[in-house]
Amino acid sequence: MLRFGLCVFFFLFLPNNVKLLDNGLARTPPMGWMSWGYYMCGDKCKEKPEKCLDEKLILSVVDAFYNEGYQEAGYEYIIIDDCWSEQKRDKNRRLVPDKKRFPRGMRFIADYIHARGLKFGMYTNIAAKTCMLYPGSRGYFDIDAKTFAEWGVDYLKVDGCFVEEDFLNIAYIKLGQHLNNTGRPMVYSCSWPYYIQYIHHKKPDYKAIAPHCNMWRNYHDVYLSWEAVKIIIQHYAEEYGVLSAHHGPGMWNDPDMIIFGTNSLTESQSRVHLAVYVMLSAPILLSCDMSKVTAYEKKLLLNLDLIAVGQDRLGIMAKPHSLEYGVTLWVKRHLPMKGDIYHSYSFAIVNFDSEQHLIHFFPKVYGIDSADGYTVMDVFSGEFLRNVTLHDPMQVTVPPDDVIMYTFFPL
Ligand SMILES: *[C@@H]1O[C@H](CO)[C@@H](O)[C@H](O)[C@H]1NC(C)=O
Ligand SMILES: *[C@@H]1O[C@H](CO)[C@@H](O)[C@H](O)[C@H]1NC(C)=O
Repeated sequence: MLRFGLCVFFFLFLPNNVKLLDNGLARTPPMGWMSWGYYMCGDKCKEKPEKCLDEKLILSVVDAFYNEGYQEAGYEYIIIDDCWSEQKRDKNRRLVPDKKRFPRGMRFIADYIHARGLKFGMYTNIAAKTCMLYPGSRGYFDIDAKTFAEWGVDYLKVDGCFVEEDFLNIAYIKLGQHLNNTGRPMVYSCSWPYYIQYIHHKKPDYKAIAPHCNMWRNYHDVYLSWEAVKIIIQHYAEEYGVLSAHHGPGMWNDPDMIIFGTNSLTESQSRVHLAVYVMLSAPILLSCDMSKVTAYEKKLLLNLDLIAVGQDRLGIMAKPHSLEYGVTLWVKRHLPMKGDIYHSYSFAIVNFDSEQHLIHFFPKVYGIDSADGYTVMDVFSGEFLRNVTLHDPMQVTVPPDDVIMYTFFPL
């Protein structure tokens, strides 16, 4: 009965004619932590101990997720990015974890992670070398897929440096088949469209990509500054038409990591960063020393009203509308529904201008349609502000570099 219910559910809510990777994973956007954003290669542990990618770091993230409420809020995948291996494969041509930094190997880390109910992610590149010149998977798809499966990997990020365009288009599909052949479901995170667009200067064919990957990068890496976050958000606003058409359960556009815990953002900027990412239904991947997450950032990360919008099972990417003064109104339709007819909606009003603005808008223009009205919640405070009819205007004051976010539940 339950299974039947689930089938009906997916049947009802998947966009028509969209094929997706049939591994049962990432039906909501993955949440977790990945090493690259803050630690980058992290292999100079003597010179830069504070940026060392090693076993101790990974276990510290696992412990933080397990002990500090992140796991309960949905943070699940802990992902080791580039630079984790020895320079040479072993005599069976298998990849070997760096013996100094990962002395007990990857199976040990996977077991530690799984024992706490969390999931383990790793990284490779589609070429013979990784982007940072460690051994890559070209010529070894079969062996590497089996190795990752034996280690207990649940998520694989596959980068796309150093190969020609034709190879990208073939190899991501091939590697995906090898992953499938292992029988171990792994979230397949592809950088395929990014390399097509920004290295080979062609238009990615998302229709061809979406059935083969659970998520994909389509834009530049984030770096540790507010500018980088703003540029990514503006890119998603501009590319909404292209990106939203191939986005939903099992297939996510990935705007790259959340830069919390790196002392890069003010409180209002961190609100914008996380609010827009949940409105997009983007993967939420932290990258930092978990002990450096500020109390305010943690409050946002564990705000279940916010997370619920991002983890909504419909997985609809919010649509951006340009208002006056460079203010953008993002609108997202989501669950719960009233009587299988009327959706809930979230509205995020983002101000990138340098001055505060008073904004008026009519939610009715952006889709709300229940004649019984809505109850309006401020997502950051969790307070129910008031009940509105279909015809009421909204009036909000948005400070510079800030966001006001409301969820409307049908009454
Ligand atoms: C492999 O692909 C088949 C067919 O698409 C699918 O039913 C199965 O769940 C996949 N298995 C894994 C481990 O991804
Ligand atoms: C909104 O309406 C509901 C249902 O009629 C009611 O229970 C609630 O108290 C109202 N909330 C406010 C803030 O007026």
